[in-house]
Amino acid sequence: MLNETFVQKIKNIKTPFYYYDMELLHTTLKKLTEESGKYGFHVHYALKANFDPRLLQEIRQYDLGVDCVSGNEVRCAIEAGFPAEKIVFAGVGKSDDEIIYALEQNIFSFNCESREELEVINSLAAQRNKTARIALRINPDVDPHTHQHISTGKADNKFGISYTEIDEVLAQLQTLNNINITGIHFHIGSQISQMKVFEYLCKRVNTIAEWFEEKGLNLSHINVGGGLSINYENPDANPVSNFKEYFEIFAQNLHLRPGQTLHFELGRSVVGQCGTLISRVLYNKTTGSGKRFIIIDASMTELIRPALYQAHHAIVNLSSDQGAITYNVAGGVCESTDVFAKDIVLPETKRGDIIAIKSAGAYGSSMASRYNLRNLPASVYSDKL
Ligand code: LLP
Repeated sequence: MLNETFVQKIKNIKTPFYYYDMELLHTTLKKLTEESGKYGFHVHYALKANFDPRLLQEIRQYDLGVDCVSGNEVRCAIEAGFPAEKIVFAGVGKSDDEIIYALEQNIFSFNCESREELEVINSLAAQRNKTARIALRINPDVDPHTHQHISTGKADNKFGISYTEIDEVLAQLQTLNNINITGIHFHIGSQISQMKVFEYLCKRVNTIAEWFEEKGLNLSHINVGGGLSINYENPDANPVSNFKEYFEIFAQNLHLRPGQTLHFELGRSVVGQCGTLISRVLYNKTTGSGKRFIIIDASMTELIRPALYQAHHAIVNLSSDQGAITYNVAGGVCESTDVFAKDIVLPETKRGDIIAIKSAGAYGSSMASRYNLRNLPASVYSDKL
Protein backbone atom coordinates (compact mmCIF):
# COMPACT_ATOMS: atom_id res chain seq x y z
CA MET A 1 0.00 0.00 0.00
CA LEU A 2 1.80 3.05 -1.26
CA ASN A 3 1.53 6.17 0.85
CA GLU A 4 3.79 8.82 -0.63
CA THR A 5 2.50 11.72 1.45
CA PHE A 6 3.12 9.91 4.71
CA VAL A 7 6.54 8.69 3.61
CA GLN A 8 7.46 12.23 2.61
CA LYS A 9 6.29 13.64 5.94
CA ILE A 10 8.34 11.24 8.01
CA LYS A 11 11.45 11.25 5.85
CA ASN A 12 13.56 12.98 8.48
CA ILE A 13 12.21 11.10 11.47
CA LYS A 14 14.37 8.40 12.97
CA THR A 15 12.75 4.96 12.99
CA PRO A 16 11.43 2.87 14.63
CA PHE A 17 8.60 4.83 16.23
CA TYR A 18 4.96 4.47 17.13
CA TYR A 19 2.67 6.56 15.00
CA TYR A 20 -0.68 7.43 16.58
CA ASP A 21 -3.66 8.40 14.49
CA MET A 22 -5.32 10.89 16.83
CA GLU A 23 -8.41 11.22 14.70
CA LEU A 24 -9.04 7.48 14.93
CA LEU A 25 -8.44 7.57 18.68
CA HIS A 26 -11.13 10.23 19.02
CA THR A 27 -13.55 8.42 16.70
CA THR A 28 -13.07 5.29 18.83
CA LEU A 29 -13.54 7.14 22.11
CA LYS A 30 -16.66 8.88 20.80
CA LYS A 31 -18.22 5.61 19.71
CA LEU A 32 -17.22 3.91 22.96
CA THR A 33 -18.71 6.59 25.19
CA GLU A 34 -21.80 6.94 23.01
CA GLU A 35 -22.59 3.22 23.20
CA SER A 36 -21.71 2.73 26.88
CA GLY A 37 -23.51 5.99 27.74
CA LYS A 38 -26.80 4.63 26.37
CA TYR A 39 -26.99 2.36 29.39
CA GLY A 40 -25.14 4.47 31.96
CA PHE A 41 -22.24 1.98 32.04
CA HIS A 42 -18.89 3.04 33.55
CA VAL A 43 -15.77 2.38 31.51
CA HIS A 44 -12.30 2.29 33.06
CA TYR A 45 -9.50 2.46 30.52
CA ALA A 46 -7.05 -0.42 31.07
CA LEU A 47 -3.88 1.65 31.27
CA LYS A 48 -1.62 -1.36 30.79
CA ALA A 49 -2.58 -1.34 27.11
CA ASN A 50 -0.78 1.96 26.55
CA PHE A 51 0.33 4.61 29.03
CA ASP A 52 1.63 7.15 26.51
CA PRO A 53 1.03 10.53 28.23
CA ARG A 54 -0.46 12.17 25.16
CA LEU A 55 -2.95 9.34 24.66
CA LEU A 56 -3.89 9.55 28.35
CA GLN A 57 -4.54 13.27 27.95
CA GLU A 58 -6.98 12.58 25.11
CA ILE A 59 -8.66 9.66 26.88
CA ARG A 60 -9.16 11.76 29.99
CA GLN A 61 -11.37 14.18 28.06
CA TYR A 62 -13.98 11.43 27.69
CA ASP A 63 -14.59 11.04 31.40
CA LEU A 64 -13.37 7.46 31.60
CA GLY A 65 -12.00 5.94 34.76
CA VAL A 66 -8.83 3.86 34.80
CA ASP A 67 -8.09 0.21 35.45
CA CYS A 68 -4.63 -0.26 37.00
CA VAL A 69 -2.53 -3.28 37.85
CA SER A 70 0.35 -1.73 39.76
CA GLY A 71 1.05 1.11 42.15
CA ASN A 72 2.95 2.88 39.40
CA GLU A 73 -0.08 2.63 37.13
CA VAL A 74 -2.26 4.15 39.87
CA ARG A 75 0.29 6.95 40.23
CA CYS A 76 0.47 7.44 36.47
CA ALA A 77 -3.34 7.69 36.23
CA ILE A 78 -3.49 10.22 39.06
CA GLU A 79 -0.64 12.29 37.65
CA ALA A 80 -2.41 12.29 34.28
CA GLY A 81 -5.39 13.89 36.03
CA PHE A 82 -7.82 10.98 36.31
CA PRO A 83 -9.91 11.22 39.48
CA ALA A 84 -9.02 8.66 42.16
CA GLU A 85 -12.69 7.86 42.63
CA LYS A 86 -12.71 6.34 39.15
CA ILE A 87 -9.63 4.15 39.61
CA VAL A 88 -9.82 0.40 40.10
CA PHE A 89 -6.75 -1.60 41.05
CA ALA A 90 -6.41 -5.31 40.19
CA GLY A 91 -3.47 -7.71 40.21
CA VAL A 92 -2.63 -10.98 41.95
CA GLY A 93 0.55 -9.62 43.48
CA LYS A 94 -0.10 -6.21 45.01
CA SER A 95 2.79 -5.28 47.30
CA ASP A 96 2.27 -3.55 50.67
CA ASP A 97 3.68 -0.29 49.29
CA GLU A 98 1.30 -0.38 46.36
CA ILE A 99 -1.68 -1.07 48.60
CA ILE A 100 -0.70 1.74 50.99
CA TYR A 101 -0.35 4.21 48.12
CA ALA A 102 -3.76 3.29 46.68
CA LEU A 103 -5.34 3.48 50.15
CA GLU A 104 -3.94 6.95 50.61
CA GLN A 105 -5.38 7.98 47.27
CA ASN A 106 -8.78 6.62 48.27
CA ILE A 107 -9.38 4.83 44.97
CA PHE A 108 -12.78 3.55 43.89
CA SER A 109 -11.99 -0.12 44.41
CA PHE A 110 -9.32 -2.73 44.95
CA ASN A 111 -10.12 -5.74 42.82
CA CYS A 112 -9.00 -8.32 45.29
CA GLU A 113 -7.64 -11.61 44.02
CA SER A 114 -7.08 -13.90 47.02
CA ARG A 115 -8.18 -14.53 50.58
CA GLU A 116 -4.76 -13.64 51.88
CA GLU A 117 -4.81 -10.33 50.03
CA LEU A 118 -8.10 -9.44 51.78
CA GLU A 119 -6.36 -9.84 55.12
CA VAL A 120 -3.36 -7.78 54.10
CA ILE A 121 -5.49 -4.92 52.77
CA ASN A 122 -7.62 -5.07 55.92
CA SER A 123 -4.62 -4.81 58.22
CA LEU A 124 -2.90 -2.03 56.22
CA ALA A 125 -6.18 -0.10 56.20
CA ALA A 126 -6.67 -0.67 59.95
CA GLN A 127 -3.19 0.72 60.70
CA ARG A 128 -4.24 3.90 58.91
CA ASN A 129 -7.74 4.08 60.29
CA LYS A 130 -9.21 3.65 56.85
CA THR A 131 -11.78 1.41 55.22
CA ALA A 132 -10.86 0.03 51.82
CA ARG A 133 -13.53 -0.49 49.18
CA ILE A 134 -13.13 -3.94 47.70
CA ALA A 135 -14.51 -5.84 44.74
CA LEU A 136 -13.90 -9.56 44.98
CA ARG A 137 -12.37 -10.77 41.75
CA ILE A 138 -14.13 -14.03 41.12
CA ASN A 139 -12.72 -16.58 38.76
CA PRO A 140 -15.93 -17.70 37.04
CA ASP A 141 -14.37 -20.59 35.08
CA VAL A 142 -15.43 -19.30 31.67
CA ASP A 143 -13.42 -20.25 28.60
CA PRO A 144 -12.89 -17.05 26.58
CA HIS A 145 -11.89 -18.95 23.40
CA THR A 146 -8.83 -16.82 22.90
CA HIS A 147 -5.08 -17.45 22.88
CA GLN A 148 -4.11 -19.54 25.94
CA HIS A 149 -1.57 -16.94 27.08
CA ILE A 150 -4.18 -14.19 27.37
CA SER A 151 -6.94 -16.25 28.92
CA THR A 152 -7.50 -15.43 32.60
CA GLY A 153 -10.91 -16.68 33.74
CA LYS A 154 -10.57 -20.46 33.60
CA ALA A 155 -10.46 -22.52 36.79
CA ASP A 156 -6.73 -23.24 36.61
CA ASN A 157 -5.55 -19.65 35.95
CA LYS A 158 -3.80 -17.78 38.75
CA PHE A 159 -6.33 -14.92 38.66
CA GLY A 160 -9.19 -14.26 41.05
CA ILE A 161 -10.78 -16.08 43.93
CA SER A 162 -12.27 -19.39 42.90
CA TYR A 163 -16.06 -19.47 43.06
CA THR A 164 -15.65 -22.69 45.04
CA GLU A 165 -13.98 -20.67 47.80
CA ILE A 166 -16.66 -18.04 48.22
CA ASP A 167 -18.19 -19.59 51.35
CA GLU A 168 -14.88 -19.38 53.18
CA VAL A 169 -14.41 -15.80 51.99
CA LEU A 170 -17.79 -14.77 53.35
CA ALA A 171 -17.02 -16.31 56.71
CA GLN A 172 -13.66 -14.52 56.74
CA LEU A 173 -15.30 -11.16 56.02
CA GLN A 174 -17.01 -11.14 59.40
CA THR A 175 -13.63 -10.55 61.00
CA LEU A 176 -12.31 -7.93 58.58
CA ASN A 177 -13.57 -4.60 59.82
CA ASN A 178 -11.53 -2.29 57.63
CA ILE A 179 -12.72 -3.51 54.28
CA ASN A 180 -16.04 -2.91 52.69
CA ILE A 181 -17.11 -5.29 49.92
CA THR A 182 -18.82 -3.06 47.42
CA GLY A 183 -18.68 -5.20 44.31
CA ILE A 184 -17.60 -8.24 42.39
CA HIS A 185 -15.13 -8.25 39.55
CA PHE A 186 -14.47 -10.55 36.61
CA HIS A 187 -12.01 -10.50 33.74
CA ILE A 188 -11.87 -13.64 31.67
CA GLY A 189 -9.33 -12.77 29.00
CA SER A 190 -8.37 -10.53 26.16
CA GLN A 191 -8.92 -10.36 22.38
CA ILE A 192 -12.28 -12.10 22.70
CA SER A 193 -13.95 -12.04 19.32
CA GLN A 194 -16.85 -14.43 19.89
CA MET A 195 -19.62 -12.26 21.33
CA LYS A 196 -21.32 -15.42 22.68
CA VAL A 197 -18.55 -15.60 25.28
CA PHE A 198 -19.73 -12.31 26.80
CA GLU A 199 -23.30 -13.61 26.84
CA TYR A 200 -22.13 -16.65 28.71
CA LEU A 201 -20.14 -14.46 31.10
CA CYS A 202 -23.32 -12.48 31.86
CA LYS A 203 -25.12 -15.68 32.81
CA ARG A 204 -22.34 -16.71 35.16
CA VAL A 205 -22.21 -13.23 36.70
CA ASN A 206 -25.99 -13.30 37.28
CA THR A 207 -25.75 -16.59 39.13
CA ILE A 208 -22.80 -15.46 41.24
CA ALA A 209 -24.31 -12.04 42.04
CA GLU A 210 -27.61 -13.64 43.05
CA TRP A 211 -25.77 -16.02 45.26
CA PHE A 212 -23.97 -13.17 47.02
CA GLU A 213 -27.21 -11.36 47.57
CA GLU A 214 -28.87 -14.42 49.03
CA LYS A 215 -26.04 -14.45 51.54
CA GLY A 216 -26.93 -10.88 52.46
CA LEU A 217 -24.08 -9.09 50.70
CA ASN A 218 -25.21 -5.85 49.13
CA LEU A 219 -23.24 -5.23 45.94
CA SER A 220 -23.27 -1.67 44.69
CA HIS A 221 -21.26 -2.48 41.59
CA ILE A 222 -20.38 -5.26 39.19
CA ASN A 223 -17.23 -5.07 37.11
CA VAL A 224 -17.00 -7.35 34.09
CA GLY A 225 -13.43 -6.46 33.05
CA GLY A 226 -12.34 -5.99 29.46
CA GLY A 227 -11.48 -8.27 26.60
CA LEU A 228 -13.27 -6.93 23.54
CA SER A 229 -11.24 -7.80 20.43
CA ILE A 230 -9.97 -5.69 17.58
CA ASN A 231 -9.59 -6.85 13.99
CA TYR A 232 -5.92 -7.61 13.36
CA GLU A 233 -6.60 -9.26 9.99
CA ASN A 234 -8.24 -6.33 8.33
CA PRO A 235 -7.74 -3.19 10.41
CA ASP A 236 -8.41 -0.65 7.66
CA ALA A 237 -11.92 -2.01 7.04
CA ASN A 238 -12.61 -2.41 10.78
CA PRO A 239 -10.91 0.46 12.60
CA VAL A 240 -13.41 0.57 15.49
CA SER A 241 -14.54 -2.44 17.53
CA ASN A 242 -18.19 -3.37 17.70
CA PHE A 243 -19.01 -1.42 20.88
CA LYS A 244 -22.70 -1.31 19.98
CA GLU A 245 -23.17 -5.08 20.03
CA TYR A 246 -20.81 -5.50 22.99
CA PHE A 247 -22.62 -3.15 25.36
CA GLU A 248 -26.01 -4.33 24.08
CA ILE A 249 -25.15 -7.88 25.18
CA PHE A 250 -24.53 -6.73 28.74
CA ALA A 251 -27.60 -4.49 28.75
CA GLN A 252 -29.77 -7.39 27.64
CA ASN A 253 -28.25 -10.26 29.59
CA LEU A 254 -26.87 -8.94 32.83
CA HIS A 255 -29.38 -8.39 35.60
CA LEU A 256 -28.61 -5.30 37.63
CA ARG A 257 -30.43 -4.47 40.82
CA PRO A 258 -31.79 -0.91 41.11
CA GLY A 259 -28.93 1.45 41.83
CA GLN A 260 -26.26 -1.14 41.01
CA THR A 261 -23.66 0.12 38.52
CA LEU A 262 -21.94 -1.87 35.79
CA HIS A 263 -18.24 -1.31 35.10
CA PHE A 264 -15.93 -2.29 32.25
CA GLU A 265 -12.15 -2.28 31.87
CA LEU A 266 -11.35 -1.92 28.20
CA GLY A 267 -7.82 -1.53 26.88
CA ARG A 268 -7.14 -3.05 23.49
CA SER A 269 -10.38 -1.89 21.89
CA VAL A 270 -9.67 1.71 22.99
CA VAL A 271 -6.14 2.18 21.66
CA GLY A 272 -5.27 -0.89 19.56
CA GLN A 273 -6.06 0.38 16.10
CA CYS A 274 -4.80 3.95 16.42
CA GLY A 275 -1.17 2.86 16.80
CA THR A 276 1.14 1.72 14.01
CA LEU A 277 4.77 0.76 14.41
CA ILE A 278 6.79 2.48 11.70
CA SER A 279 10.12 1.04 10.69
CA ARG A 280 12.74 1.19 7.95
CA VAL A 281 14.16 -1.76 6.07
CA LEU A 282 17.79 -2.33 6.93
CA TYR A 283 18.69 -5.40 4.90
CA ASN A 284 17.42 -7.96 2.44
CA LYS A 285 18.80 -11.46 2.64
CA THR A 286 18.14 -14.97 1.43
CA THR A 287 18.80 -17.99 3.62
CA GLY A 288 20.53 -21.17 2.50
CA SER A 289 17.14 -22.79 2.11
CA GLY A 290 16.00 -19.99 -0.18
CA LYS A 291 13.83 -18.02 2.25
CA ARG A 292 13.84 -14.30 1.66
CA PHE A 293 14.11 -12.19 4.77
CA ILE A 294 13.59 -8.48 5.25
CA ILE A 295 15.39 -7.23 8.33
CA ILE A 296 13.81 -4.06 9.69
CA ASP A 297 14.94 -1.62 12.36
CA ALA A 298 11.97 -2.47 14.61
CA SER A 299 12.17 -5.65 16.63
CA MET A 300 10.57 -7.62 19.43
CA THR A 301 11.79 -4.95 21.85
CA GLU A 302 9.32 -2.46 20.36
CA LEU A 303 6.52 -4.96 19.70
CA ILE A 304 6.79 -8.31 21.40
CA ARG A 305 3.34 -9.69 20.56
CA PRO A 306 4.37 -11.79 17.51
CA ALA A 307 7.34 -13.30 19.39
CA LEU A 308 5.39 -13.92 22.58
CA TYR A 309 1.96 -15.01 21.37
CA GLN A 310 2.52 -15.73 17.66
CA ALA A 311 0.24 -12.73 17.19
CA HIS A 312 -0.62 -11.59 13.71
CA HIS A 313 -0.22 -7.94 12.71
CA ALA A 314 -0.89 -6.72 9.20
CA ILE A 315 2.32 -5.43 7.61
CA VAL A 316 2.56 -3.06 4.66
CA ASN A 317 5.35 -1.50 2.68
CA LEU A 318 4.47 2.18 2.38
CA SER A 319 7.17 3.06 -0.13
CA SER A 320 7.00 0.40 -2.81
CA ASP A 321 4.40 -1.01 -5.19
CA GLN A 322 6.83 -3.01 -7.33
CA GLY A 323 5.96 -6.67 -7.95
CA ALA A 324 5.01 -9.18 -5.27
CA ILE A 325 7.42 -11.38 -3.36
CA THR A 326 7.04 -13.75 -0.43
CA TYR A 327 9.06 -12.63 2.57
CA ASN A 328 9.73 -13.24 6.22
CA VAL A 329 9.91 -9.97 8.13
CA ALA A 330 12.27 -9.96 11.09
CA GLY A 331 13.86 -7.65 13.62
CA GLY A 332 17.50 -7.47 14.55
CA VAL A 333 17.42 -8.87 18.09
CA CYS A 334 19.44 -11.99 18.85
CA GLU A 335 16.45 -14.31 19.22
CA SER A 336 15.00 -16.61 16.59
CA THR A 337 11.49 -15.64 17.65
CA ASP A 338 12.16 -12.01 16.70
CA VAL A 339 10.10 -12.41 13.54
CA PHE A 340 7.06 -10.24 12.77
CA ALA A 341 5.64 -12.37 9.96
CA LYS A 342 6.45 -15.46 7.94
CA ASP A 343 5.70 -16.02 4.27
CA ILE A 344 3.79 -12.85 3.63
CA VAL A 345 3.49 -11.25 0.24
CA LEU A 346 4.84 -7.71 -0.05
CA PRO A 347 5.88 -5.55 -2.96
CA GLU A 348 9.55 -5.96 -3.83
CA THR A 349 11.29 -4.36 -0.88
CA LYS A 350 14.63 -2.59 -0.67
CA ARG A 351 16.82 -1.01 1.97
CA GLY A 352 15.28 2.21 3.27
CA ASP A 353 11.65 1.30 2.48
CA ILE A 354 9.11 2.24 5.14
CA ILE A 355 7.31 -0.70 6.74
CA ALA A 356 4.14 -0.19 8.78
CA ILE A 357 3.07 -2.79 11.34
CA LYS A 358 -0.58 -2.16 12.01
CA SER A 359 -2.87 -2.51 15.05
CA ALA A 360 0.03 -1.96 17.43
CA GLY A 361 -1.48 0.67 19.74
CA ALA A 362 -2.33 -1.80 22.51
CA TYR A 363 0.34 -3.83 24.30
CA GLY A 364 2.95 -2.46 21.89
CA SER A 365 4.85 0.42 23.43
CA SER A 366 3.68 -0.58 26.93
CA MET A 367 5.46 -3.92 26.60
CA ALA A 368 8.62 -2.50 25.03
CA SER A 369 11.92 -3.43 26.63
CA ARG A 370 15.55 -2.45 26.42
CA TYR A 371 16.77 -5.98 25.66
CA ASN A 372 20.03 -5.89 23.69
CA LEU A 373 20.25 -2.34 25.11
CA ARG A 374 18.06 -1.04 22.36
CA ASN A 375 16.36 2.35 22.73
CA LEU A 376 12.74 2.52 23.78
CA PRO A 377 10.52 3.52 20.85
CA ALA A 378 9.50 7.15 20.37
CA SER A 379 5.95 8.35 19.65
CA VAL A 380 4.75 10.53 16.79
CA TYR A 381 1.21 11.90 16.76
CA SER A 382 -0.73 12.47 13.54
CA ASP A 383 -1.80 15.99 14.54
CA LYS A 384 1.80 17.05 15.19
CA LEU A 385 3.21 15.73 11.93
N1 LLP B 1 -8.83 -5.89 33.20
C1 LLP B 1 -7.90 -6.74 33.65
C2 LLP B 1 -7.95 -7.20 35.04
C3 LLP B 1 -6.89 -7.19 32.78
O1 LLP B 1 -5.98 -8.04 33.22
C4 LLP B 1 -6.86 -6.73 31.43
C5 LLP B 1 -5.83 -7.16 30.51
C6 LLP B 1 -7.85 -5.81 31.02
C7 LLP B 1 -8.82 -5.42 31.93
C8 LLP B 1 -7.89 -5.23 29.63
O2 LLP B 1 -8.19 -6.17 28.67
P1 LLP B 1 -8.40 -5.73 27.13
O3 LLP B 1 -9.68 -4.93 27.05
O4 LLP B 1 -7.23 -4.95 26.70
O5 LLP B 1 -8.51 -7.03 26.41
N2 LLP B 1 -0.37 -8.43 26.40
C9 LLP B 1 -1.47 -9.19 25.87
C10 LLP B 1 -2.77 -8.84 26.52
C11 LLP B 1 -2.74 -9.00 28.02
C12 LLP B 1 -4.00 -8.55 28.67
C13 LLP B 1 -3.78 -8.39 30.12
N3 LLP B 1 -4.93 -7.99 30.85
C14 LLP B 1 -1.53 -8.98 24.38
O6 LLP B 1 -0.67 -8.27 23.85
O7 LLP B 1 -2.39 -9.52 23.70
